[in-house]
Amino acid sequence: MPSYRIEGGTPLRGAIRVSGAKNAATKCIVAALLTDDEVVLDNMPRIGDVAITVDMARALGAEVEVDGETVRVRAATVSSGDVPVAFSGLNRIPVLMVGPLLHRYGRASVPLVGGDAIGARPIDFHMDALRRLGASVTLEAGVWRADAKRLHGTLIDLPYPSVGATESALLSSVLAEGTTVIKNAAVEPEILDLILLLQKMGALITVEVDRSIVVEGVPRLRGARHRVITDRIEVASFAAAAVATDGDVLIDGAQQDTLMTFLNALRRVGGDFEVTASGIRFFRAGELRSTTLETDVHPGFATDWQQPFVVLLTQARGLSVIHETVHERRFGYTAELRAMGATIEIYTACLGGRPCRYRYGDHPHSCLVQGPTPLRGTSMTIPDLRAGFSYLLAAVVASGTSTIEGAQYVERGYADISGKITQLGGSIQVLK
Ligand code: EPU
Repeated sequence: MPSYRIEGGTPLRGAIRVSGAKNAATKCIVAALLTDDEVVLDNMPRIGDVAITVDMARALGAEVEVDGETVRVRAATVSSGDVPVAFSGLNRIPVLMVGPLLHRYGRASVPLVGGDAIGARPIDFHMDALRRLGASVTLEAGVWRADAKRLHGTLIDLPYPSVGATESALLSSVLAEGTTVIKNAAVEPEILDLILLLQKMGALITVEVDRSIVVEGVPRLRGARHRVITDRIEVASFAAAAVATDGDVLIDGAQQDTLMTFLNALRRVGGDFEVTASGIRFFRAGELRSTTLETDVHPGFATDWQQPFVVLLTQARGLSVIHETVHERRFGYTAELRAMGATIEIYTACLGGRPCRYRYGDHPHSCLVQGPTPLRGTSMTIPDLRAGFSYLLAAVVASGTSTIEGAQYVERGYADISGKITQLGGSIQVLK
């Protein structure tokens, strides 16, 4: 397995181009399974998660061509409703395929989903939505089996605005008979991007002012060409890196509209930015100061921005309080930051904000960071994607050398990460 060696202490300076959004790109491949026509997807990031999803679509019989950042999907040849068990645990995409496969076959089977170990991450909302649409769904020996002659429009009232469950409901209802209302839906920019692709394909979807999504089922969808939005998480990760290292980074393709909450938080701690014609430039405005923040669903502060931001806060003066309200176990990575010299404590109480659904039980979901602290290079093993970026960033900020095992976790979600750090003057080597 490849690993990284990083020599820290150099401010990141220069320009990079942000890639397409991981959490939109993979869903667009699933949407392409809803039509027999060709769907052409541009700006697809070259990352592990897209490769896994392409393999999954091919395993179902779809023809998929990957040409640089363009992916062409032709699903007319799909010949199976069974996502092979070999895809069990690799990412969260198989569960999103159930609806499209039901429309094609009347039955589907998908293995248990994986993704990062950042909480329990159940899929009960997905399965409840499918049942409400008329599917019968059972779990047998690690495989979800679903049957439905025809899905019918219904009311789906989500207990929490889950990104994945909203996408499941959308992908299952666009071809259903009648109208589906998804209440308490998530409206992350990646979901809106998926809706834009579906609209181009012929779907009738309305996003209401109260975060309800109304889907009027249509009998068929057609091919389309779509450019996937840029990755606001990659932008925030490199923005945090620019400010934490006291550097200056222009991120070509960064979209201000998907980053408003992050940009406010960055400015509050003493970072600054300039929105240019091509992207956003990030730098420090002065001394870094502590802050209080709470992660939330969009348009709140995204949980996937939390990890690089915590590394940044280790360099800010004062006591920062971070309350993670989306995933209940997303501070595991801070143990390594402590080993590097950071002063960080984790609490199960809801600190600094309103009580959240993790207030009872043993959920280590609040974090105090006392800064600034110098960081020292060390040896680390990456447990998951966003933790991985935070290790890389901490190693870039630190004095001395760090070795970081588990590059495959980061490369599942960040395109050409070592190339981009090198381009910004960071010293990183990939060891095979
Ligand atoms: N939840 C349930 N039941 C469900 C679905 C979700 O209880 O059926 C809970 C989860 O346990 C979690 C919360 O709802 O506590 C939010 O989960 P959500 O469904 O929104 O997350 P997801 O769709 O599994 C996506 C991203 C994550 C990102 C979250 C939140 C993808 C592939 N993943 O996950 O991204 O953190 O939304 O924004 O889109 C990442 O990119 O590193 C990553 C983990």
